[in-house]
Amino acid sequence: MIQRQREQWQLDEGSAEAYERYLVPLLFAPGAEYLIELATPGPGERVLDVACGTGIVARRAALRVGSGGKVVGLDLNEGMLGMASKASSDVRPVIEWRQGDATSLPLPDGAFDVVLCQQGLQFFPDQPAALSEMHRVLTPNGRLALSVLRSVEHNPGYLLLADALERHVGPEAGAMMRSPFPSLSGDELRELITGAGFQDVGIFLGIGPVRYPTVDEFLRWEGASSPLAEPIGALKDDIRAALIHDLGEALRIYTDDVGIVFPTETYLAVAR
Ligand SMILES: C[S@@+](CC[C@H](N)C(=O)[O-])C[C@H]1O[C@@H](n2cnc3c(N)ncnc32)[C@H](O)[C@@H]1O
Repeated sequence: MIQRQREQWQLDEGSAEAYERYLVPLLFAPGAEYLIELATPGPGERVLDVACGTGIVARRAALRVGSGGKVVGLDLNEGMLGMASKASSDVRPVIEWRQGDATSLPLPDGAFDVVLCQQGLQFFPDQPAALSEMHRVLTPNGRLALSVLRSVEHNPGYLLLADALERHVGPEAGAMMRSPFPSLSGDELRELITGAGFQDVGIFLGIGPVRYPTVDEFLRWEGASSPLAEPIGALKDDIRAALIHDLGEALRIYTDDVGIVFPTETYLAVAR
């Protein structure tokens, strides 16, 4: 059960705050810009952000739809939604934050013009059901834009982090760090989306560098913002030092004068 929750990336309140502070500026705010460009929500439109986390995509969408539009952010996790609400207190239109499961959306049919889902699909236990739900809540001409990371082999910095966690913390920690990186091909993603009733599916690759100032901060930021906050926080000093040393050695090929940098790869998908 705990493993399942970790694989669904369920965070407590402190981790949601760390996620907003560290990972949103680094990874999720730039990703949100891509999704918004792909879906182009416009003035007056109604937008749903599925698995909204701390709500960066919903916040960006609100800027586009303006006062005549509506934005709803939905997530399973109360800690994420609490942080989303705090981080959006001055955003207009006021975003509606809803707790719910992507595989059974507590929302009426045809209620949205645009559905967005950034890095959520890989955590849903029933992906076809979640995509069918996204299709159900869209209007007949509604648009979908989502992103889902490529396999961990295409994201080498995180592969090395997962391997080091496996060696120094345990197999569960390694599996958790691999869980955001599903082994899904572009064709499989297209089939999943088409199978849920969508048309005109487009799949794109997003490839970009990601930077962390030091190996220590790579571990600290990823650890604090993930379901591993507790086990990583509880590591004895000598084990933590060995983990950082080992990870630093492994990341030597991705180290330059200002820190560590490695490529990340994600799929971006659009459909109608
Ligand atoms: C990596 S985060 C992405 C969050 C957000 N989309 C962003 O761009 O920052 C994954 C999110 O999926 C949510 N999640 C996992 N399973 C879910 C489900 N079945 N229904 C709704 N949300 C879910 C988690 O709570 C978490 O907030």
